[in-house]
Amino acid sequence: MADAPGEGVKVRVIEYREGPFVDREKEEEFLLDRFKHRPEKLLFIYGPKSSGKTTLMEYLVENVLKKDKSLYVNYVNFRGYAIVNYDSFLDVYFQPIEDENKPFIEKALEYLPISIGRFGGNVSLPIKGIQFGLNIELYDRLVEKKIDPFNLLLEILKKIRKKQMPILILDEVQILEGIYMNGEVKRRHLLTEFFNFLVRLTKETHLAHVVVMTSETLFLEKIYNHSKLAETSDFYLIGHLDFKQVQEWLKYEGIEDKEIVNLIWEYVGGSAHRINDAIRIVKKGDSLEHYLLDEAKIYRGKLSHFIAEMLEELDEKRMFKGILEEMLKQGFVVRDNENNLQRRVMNKAIEHEFLFLNPREERIVFNSRIVRKGAELLIEG
Ligand SMILES: Nc1ncnc2c1ncn2[C@@H]1O[C@H](COP(=O)(O)OP(=O)(O)O)[C@@H](O)[C@H]1O
Ligand SMILES: [Mg+2]
Repeated sequence: MADAPGEGVKVRVIEYREGPFVDREKEEEFLLDRFKHRPEKLLFIYGPKSSGKTTLMEYLVENVLKKDKSLYVNYVNFRGYAIVNYDSFLDVYFQPIEDENKPFIEKALEYLPISIGRFGGNVSLPIKGIQFGLNIELYDRLVEKKIDPFNLLLEILKKIRKKQMPILILDEVQILEGIYMNGEVKRRHLLTEFFNFLVRLTKETHLAHVVVMTSETLFLEKIYNHSKLAETSDFYLIGHLDFKQVQEWLKYEGIEDKEIVNLIWEYVGGSAHRINDAIRIVKKGDSLEHYLLDEAKIYRGKLSHFIAEMLEELDEKRMFKGILEEMLKQGFVVRDNENNLQRRVMNKAIEHEFLFLNPREERIVFNSRIVRKGAELLIEG
């Protein structure tokens, strides 16, 4: 691979969470540079599932952002909460300062006096986690829907901004889809209000940096095509690792045999957790070929199951096989917007994470190389 692009460029490999963390220097630089400037737009980070979005962000939060006293970081992964309704959403960000946790909070923090309209109260910054503490009266008004949580958050962030630049990071935000704000005569979508608020924070008031992360690209596509949000947002792809990065990672693990490196790349490409598994197999001395073929067979099985159970009629099943054939031949497919059947089938395959849609590109590709290998087994036998 002497002519491989990027040859000669050093790939960073460091220890993080007792394992190797490969590269992402370019992405890190992009993000840190962005945080140095005045907030202007929302940032959407997207990419195929397991490409390493969460890991990169958590690495940055722990090792860089939280260490910088000029920044206030509020990172929430909505996957970690059971958000079933509006009240459980409020619980993510707010908690009452009750008598039993009062000394704890008082010891740790100054209060921020807050007033919104005719309501006033005290708020404490989160001690651990991300929940702001509210004095009981304020908290009650919030849960009684007398106060808009976004107005409250805005006031809190204004106070914080006097000393620190707030950075809000929201992972797996699509989980909020389908939740309504209650206590309203007219039902409002929580996510719509949330995004309006995030636009206010960035484009309108420049109060905070906002990073929104998601693996669900059909969800992202809706945002990308939503005129207001598209105009007020930037979109940044974090994809799987490339060949050079994988090669350097394997080298770091003492794996330099070309055949082994190529075999791993051929089957799992730059999908980090699969590479981890392959490394384990090599180190154990088990048959890598056997293991990778088994993994591909699992994907063949998943694809068969998808065809059997998720695709409705014979025409959908045939269409999907046709799509796979085209993918294997040219590496990608393009959606035909006038073909409803094709669009429906592709969307299902994207939803089930066999295919990856980048809203900024026409080409739809396999979500990862192991899916391609499974498709090969299915189509070519
Ligand atoms: N740069 C990297 N180097 C090594 N391993 C990584 C890297 N990024 C992610 N991983 C590993 O890959 C797996 C999936 O990463 P994750 O961050 O959860 O992906 P995403 O959030 O994009 O779905 C995790 O087990 C993680 O440890
Ligand atoms: Mg993630």
